[in-house]
Amino acid sequence: MTILNRFTELRTDIADWRRDLHANPELGFNVHRTAELVAEKLKAFGVDEVVTGIGTTGVIGVIKGKQTNPARVVGMRADMDALPVVETTGLPYASKIEGRMHACGHDGHTAMLLGAAKYLSETRDFNGTSVVIFQPAEEDACGARAMIDDGMMERFGIQEVYGMHNLPGVPVGKFVIRPGPFLAASDWFTIEIEGRGGHAAFPNACIDPTVIGTQMVNALQLVVSRAIAPVDSAVVSITLFHTGGDSFNVIPQTLHMKGTVRTLDAGVQGLIEEQMNHIVDHTAKAFGARAVLNYQRGIPVTRNTERETSFAADIAAEVVGEQHVDRNWPPLLGGEDFSYMLNARPGAFIFLGNGNTAGLHHPQFDFNDEAISFGCSYWARLAERAMPAD
Ligand code: NI
Repeated sequence: MTILNRFTELRTDIADWRRDLHANPELGFNVHRTAELVAEKLKAFGVDEVVTGIGTTGVIGVIKGKQTNPARVVGMRADMDALPVVETTGLPYASKIEGRMHACGHDGHTAMLLGAAKYLSETRDFNGTSVVIFQPAEEDACGARAMIDDGMMERFGIQEVYGMHNLPGVPVGKFVIRPGPFLAASDWFTIEIEGRGGHAAFPNACIDPTVIGTQMVNALQLVVSRAIAPVDSAVVSITLFHTGGDSFNVIPQTLHMKGTVRTLDAGVQGLIEEQMNHIVDHTAKAFGARAVLNYQRGIPVTRNTERETSFAADIAAEVVGEQHVDRNWPPLLGGEDFSYMLNARPGAFIFLGNGNTAGLHHPQFDFNDEAISFGCSYWARLAERAMPAD
């Protein structure tokens, strides 16, 4: 087990940065204070180049090694944004802003990558370039794409890219990862049914969208259980079911539904979209109604590449010992917009245990400062091993 000594020394400072970020959460692309603080610290550490305003409020730090092999440029990414959640932790450093909270631990991710940037600027014990990426708007699932669309990969010559997130329920000092699909593609849809409204005592004169809608909800549940192979994973959830009416004795004219589809495979994703179109169209027609499915593809599957995943797991094992690394953790059907970065470059996303805390996005959640030394050591060793000095 190799916690780098420097992080034992820096741990209190890094925890202080983390708690300051925790007390001052910001949302989406509006992470102005956070981005400014990150940029100031990177400059103070002596990072070679600090660029703000990438993809609106993203920040990039470029740290050159003692030798600078131009073929080796490694990107390491942290997310900076918080959530619209009312914090109930009662902690001394709880959110000062009502209705906003670092309920996903992005405060910890940002602080750990800052700690690693400080270390790498001090030691520069690698042959290549470390690029630290501080991303806005992960929760809105559009910050990573905004930075990529802004030319981040080409401009800084990034050749491989790594991401890390904390995970409650996994012990502190443990890492979990897997090659291939790790997190789900996250799509959303709406369904609009148009029936024929009228008097609730004369249903024969109406086309009742509520009854048709319930048939549709049931049929949609059969897509996962009957159309998808039993060993494949998928979720179809209806999250809103709202008739156009508000009365005891009126059959409404319309019905509105919303929901999400999660998949780990493009074939399964395509099949679900196709089946949903059939079900919505034919169920409506069977009862003489009209219905429209609007299906929108959201963030893609977070797919870890084989070589980089095995490398990342080796680094984690160097930090915490092989017995504390699970290299074949089951996929999760949550989504993560780091997927866009993995579609652009090879790399790997890893989870770091947050211990027995409240779950992600819960009002009692808090990033576990005990995890800091592990996360920072992982980043530092990853840069040093990916670009070994002569
Ligand atoms: Ni998160």
